[in-house]
Amino acid sequence: MHIARTIEELRNLRRRQETDTWGLVPTMGFLHDGHLDLVQRARRENQRVAVSIFVNPTQFDQNEDLEKYPRDLERDLALLEKAGTDVAFCPPPEEVYPPGFQTYVTVEEVSQPLEGASRSGHFRGVATVVAKLFCLVRPTRAYFGQKDAQQCVVIQRMTQDLGFDLQVVICPTVREADGLAMSSRNARLSPEQRRSAPALYRALRSAAAALARGQRDAEALRRRMIETIEAEPLARIDYVSVADPASLRELDEVESKALLSLAVFYGTIRLIDNLLLEEPFILSVGAVSNGDRVPKG
Ligand code: PAF
Repeated sequence: MHIARTIEELRNLRRRQETDTWGLVPTMGFLHDGHLDLVQRARRENQRVAVSIFVNPTQFDQNEDLEKYPRDLERDLALLEKAGTDVAFCPPPEEVYPPGFQTYVTVEEVSQPLEGASRSGHFRGVATVVAKLFCLVRPTRAYFGQKDAQQCVVIQRMTQDLGFDLQVVICPTVREADGLAMSSRNARLSPEQRRSAPALYRALRSAAAALARGQRDAEALRRRMIETIEAEPLARIDYVSVADPASLRELDEVESKALLSLAVFYGTIRLIDNLLLEEPFILSVGAVSNGDRVPKG
């Protein structure tokens, strides 16, 4: 595995395999099985795999602590090597944002609700760094996790609007055995918070079950999610949403598709999760209709 710390190194490595297909997995490091699932899929579908590890300062707002974001580069590189990565790109911040940097990508409407409403400037930072990675790596395919549902919508919109010649591949959420969606932030939960955190997934499942039984009123579905989270004394709701999966506008009534999502604080740690559901909204034990990786039972 080659490790590139500068744009020049990355470009040189990319040029050496000019005609190969390349899969790109952008990450902020502190890798877990969800990331490795993306890397494995990229490995299967491309001749070369590049993974970026970059804690992107521009996607953190003042209320979030960039410094506290967990990091373990040595461990990440060992995991990537084992997973068959060809190039790990781990630049310092000044390599991505050199002095005088002033060019940003803004994806307008779909960046505004949900995460965008709670985290000012977040998607401008995400879109900018992902666009830059797309320009540098020139991947054939780029891999993202469904767990960050709105990020997927923003990146798909940007890719289409700016005409990037690549396929955005969205992979199912990978979950712990108790249903908690894998996230680098989980490592910062206290043992009590960790025990309570599967409530996010329970809330989503409860609303999905109601939908499967014929409840189409979006407000009733939101109420179900709120009730489940409010039963957890350590949890504080940021938002719950039942939205159109493409426009991310809140629905009054669910027709053929819905994105159920929520963000919940445990102390200062903010967790998100979602289920993307489509008619016929069948909810079986241990599985939901969107291919989500759900533990049995
Ligand atoms: O999902 C993430 O980890 C980040 O938002 C991404 C896509 C790597 C951009 O910094």
